Amino acid sequence: MSDQAARLRAMIQQKRAFEKMVVNQNIPQEGQQARVICVTSGKGGVGKTNFTLNLAIALSKENKRVVIIDADLGLANIDVVLGVLPKYSLLDVINGDRSIQEVAVRGPNDIKIISGGSGLLDLIDMPQEKIQRLIEKFNGLNQMADIILIDTGAGLSKAVLSFVLAAHEVIIVCTPEPTAITDAYAMIKTIGMRDRDKTIKLLINRVESTNEGKMTFEKLQNASSRFLNVNIEKLGYLTEDIHVSRSVKLQNPFLLQYPSSMASKNIEMIAQRILYDQVPQENFNSSKGFFSRVISLFR
Ligand SMILES: Nc1ncnc2c1ncn2[C@@H]1O[C@H](COP(=O)(O)OP(=O)(O)OP(=O)(O)O)[C@@H](O)[C@H]1O
Ligand SMILES: [Mg+2]
Repeated sequence: MSDQAARLRAMIQQKRAFEKMVVNQNIPQEGQQARVICVTSGKGGVGKTNFTLNLAIALSKENKRVVIIDADLGLANIDVVLGVLPKYSLLDVINGDRSIQEVAVRGPNDIKIISGGSGLLDLIDMPQEKIQRLIEKFNGLNQMADIILIDTGAGLSKAVLSFVLAAHEVIIVCTPEPTAITDAYAMIKTIGMRDRDKTIKLLINRVESTNEGKMTFEKLQNASSRFLNVNIEKLGYLTEDIHVSRSVKLQNPFLLQYPSSMASKNIEMIAQRILYDQVPQENFNSSKGFFSRVISLFR
């Protein structure tokens, strides 16, 4: 086991050096862009927020600078799970004089959290020159973060779809329940219709066994490739674990509260996989940055 861990670490170090080289070569003018990963789901309540928060902490333990954007336009979530009350949201960046740095709240392990508020709805009627200034402000995030995780609301609203399509990668969270599977399938279908080449990764949460996770993944993968011609990748499984809901009650992420729980071990594996995964270079090659893409998709 420790041999395996050492091998994995060595591979990750090699990969990091390579990543730095390649990413820098491909984005000469704009400086380094943060890797943007959007976490979403078809059905609500499948574990997106807990997954996102704990993943952020696991990645920051690996010395990545992580910013979470809480983009649930209904009820903001991350702050509730953490028990923090952000004073400002993206709305203050959009309408006010706040910079993106000022609205970020510091969370555990130095992760930063930005609350989406319902501010994005204001973008629809915003004049172009104001939008341009806003995009410049948003791009300030690239200086703060190596990885931006976006926790969206469930379902297929226009806002969710804009984040999904603009992100470099999408993680769809699903559980083995049939309703969650059909809703995840509908989500994959909608994404596939807009962008067949999007990198879509599947995280199966609340599995009772590896086999259950495997079967759920295969069901979705087979249906997606056969009927939608969309390829999805397996990110991993997260076990059904009582420590998850216990940590929610304590408003402390399970990775910190119960570091040796099964859920924490799963998350750490997943974080390693994300760091090891090759980010397709063409995902970074768009002439527009992430935020300009979100805004043009949203308007
Ligand atoms: N692996 C797990 N084991 C046990 N319980 C879990 C697990 N994952 C999530 N839960 C339970 O599910 C609840 C909902 O999780 P969470 O808030 O992360 O879902 P969500 O997808 O963000 O919901 P929403 O769609 O409302 O934003 C948690 O409070 C927790 O009680
Ligand atoms: Mg949530």
